[in-house]
Amino acid sequence: MTPIRWKDSYSVNHPEIDAQHQEWISIFNKLHSTLLYGHPFHADSTCRQVLNEMVNYTQYHFRHEEDYLRSICYPEIVGHCRLHKNFINLICRHNQNEQVLIEKSLEVIKKWLLNHILVEDIKYSDFVKGAVPGKGESSQPSI
Ligand SMILES: [Fe+2]
Repeated sequence: MTPIRWKDSYSVNHPEIDAQHQEWISIFNKLHSTLLYGHPFHADSTCRQVLNEMVNYTQYHFRHEEDYLRSICYPEIVGHCRLHKNFINLICRHNQNEQVLIEKSLEVIKKWLLNHILVEDIKYSDFVKGAVPGKGESSQPSI
């Protein structure tokens, strides 16, 4: 499995949220390198530390994104927030697990992150573009 590399196609046309998604990906990549290349004696505690960082950052990012979705009256907000809650439950479950995070868990997290940004988050970006002609090109909705 390879780390995630940010591409312009991941953009939701909102610089602040794009920056948060990039930070999210960078925490994932830290988890990836810790798990695959970390020192064997410290891998478990370091993984747990990075996973904690992932939980905290994800909660911060989701709060921010949900505030934004409310501000644009996004019609799919309930389903979107449910997806967020499911992901928090998923990573908390891994975090509470006594076992060391395994590569398979990392793959699940990677798939979730990419699917969420590229499919679910792009939907609100498209909603903003459709609702306000010209939005998402150069101007920026306020939060
Ligand atoms: Fe989201």
